[in-house]
Formats: sequence, structure tokens, C-alpha cells
Amino acid sequence: MSIPAMGLGTFRLQGEVVTDSVRNGLEAGYRVIDTAQIYGNEAEVGAAIAASGVARSELFITTKIWTENLSRDKLVPSLKESLSKLRTDYVDLLLIHWPSPGGAVPVKEFMTALAEAKEQGLARQIGISNFTVELMQQAIAAVGAKAIATNQIELHPYLQNRKVVEFARRNGIHITSYMTLAYGKVLGDPVIQQIAARRGATPAQVVLAWAMKLGYAVIPSSTKRANLESNLKAAALQLSDEDMAQIAALERGERLTSPAGLAPAWD
Ligand SMILES: NC(=O)c1ccc[n+]([C@@H]2O[C@H](COP(=O)([O-])OP(=O)(O)OC[C@H]3O[C@@H](n4cnc5c(N)ncnc54)[C@H](OP(=O)(O)O)[C@@H]3O)[C@@H](O)[C@H]2O)c1
Repeated sequence: MSIPAMGLGTFRLQGEVVTDSVRNGLEAGYRVIDTAQIYGNEAEVGAAIAASGVARSELFITTKIWTENLSRDKLVPSLKESLSKLRTDYVDLLLIHWPSPGGAVPVKEFMTALAEAKEQGLARQIGISNFTVELMQQAIAAVGAKAIATNQIELHPYLQNRKVVEFARRNGIHITSYMTLAYGKVLGDPVIQQIAARRGATPAQVVLAWAMKLGYAVIPSSTKRANLESNLKAAALQLSDEDMAQIAALERGERLTSPAGLAPAWD
């Protein structure tokens, strides 16, 4: 069991936009799709996958449990609804999307329910998202580090999240970088652009290759077929130690996703 290095994100994409993105993505060769209950697009993602004709066994589908469904009585029933929308019997990866606001549902309760979903065969792997070191410690105490496949966190050149990465690494928890492109913001960075020019690559390929070289999984989203196709080619781009050091130096603690009432006390 492991987390594939490159997938397709679907946050913000609705209706025909998400259907087109998933269809184009699958045609281009993506086999990993990242959605979430709160994205309101699981049914469209499921329809696009069904229409693609790609075999379920070739796909890696991730969804995420919304904060309203974290209690033991709601988690598995909400997952079953997600599975029905996605037109599948299981997800490959099931994440807790955000920790419970104000700790309303104890970490132990939702991690145990998540583990039960896996035991029931509704999820092949389980994990967490937007978890700080302290929350990861609680999740580990609940189900053990080995049970936690990944922590999906905001991570891009402007927010490299080193404290969370180090802790996760010490505990054998894989990191998935979300918003690796900082929603497009890092693509205009002069350092990224210079590396892209040197390597004959696009700025997006440079940023995705940087994250993958550090061992993170990436799930960039795009509404454009050309971007979907070129992003996929980032896996073949080799960056030098000097390129990596230059990108490492871009860290500036710039967090783009911190919803009030939802975000934990970040590290
Ligand atoms: N767990 C969480 O709480 C959480 C939070 C946020 C995101 N996520 C996941 O992570 C995924 C990725 O994050 P994101 O979609 O917010 O941001 P992102 O992948 O960093 O950036 C997407 C943006 O970059 C543009 N883009 C993509 N490829 C490009 C290219 N080659 N050249 C130029 N622009 C390009 C896209 O525009 P075009 O459409 O014009 O290409 C889009 O505006 C999400 O879709 C979601 O699945 C998870």
C-alpha cells in the first residue's frame, strides 16, 4: 500500500467543469482523483469516471469526510453516501478533511470510526488532512502511526511546512502536498521561472517535480487540458541539488488556506 506520486485535484470544480477536468485527466493518463464530501462534486466525479471506461482496479480514488460527519454514528453512513455518488464500493484513500472544530468530536472517536471503515472494506487506506503535530500525535495515539497512510497538507514553495513534514517523516506518515502550485501564485516567481527556462520546462512542472523529489504526493487541479497534460509530465523532470536549494529558499510562511472556525492552531 502506498500513495501514488501524482493525482488530479478537484476542489472548486463543479458541474460540467469537473466532469470535463476528470474526463480530460483520465484521457491524459491520470489514474488518481482527489475529491471530498464538501466539494459537492462526488456525483460528477463518479459519472465522469464511469463514462471514461477506465477499470476501477486501475484507479486510485480519494475522498474526505467533512467535519459534520466526524461522529461515530455519522462517519460510515456519510462514507456510504459518498461511495454511492462515486459509483464504487470502496475508496482507495479516505481522509479526515479537517480536525473537528473546537475538538467537538474527539480525535480518538473519528480515527476509530475511520479505522472501522477500513476494516469494513469501504476504504483501502486511511489518513488525515490539515493535521498539526499535536493532532497527529493524538491520531497516532488512537490508531497507531502504521494505520495512517498520509497527512494531506498545504505545502508549496512559499509554505514548506517543515515541522509537520519532519514529524510525519519520523513516524512513517507520507505527506501529500495540496495547493502545490499555491493556486498558481508561485508560477510567476522569478526563481521558479529561471529554473523552468534552464530546464526547458514549465513553472508548474518545476514546482511539481520539486515536491515529488522531496517524496510528497501532489494533486494539482486544472480546468485546461493542456495544463493537465503538461503537469503530468513533471514526473519526468529531473531537478539538480542547486535547483532544489533555490526553491527551498523561497519559504516565507505564506499560508493560503486557513478557514476561520475550521483551521487548527498551526505549527
Ligand atoms: N485537504 C484540503 O483541505 C485541501 C485544500 C485545498 C486543496 N486540496 C486538494 O488539492 C488540490 C490542488 O489544490 P488547488 O486546486 O486548490 O490548487 P493548485 O493545484 O495549487 O492550483 C490550481 C490552479 O493552478 C492553475 N494551474 C494548474 N496547472 C497549471 C499550469 N500548468 N500552468 C498554469 N496554471 C496552472 C489552475 O488553473 P487552470 O484551471 O487555468 O489550469 C488553477 O487555478 C485541490 O484540487 C484539492 O483536490 C485539498
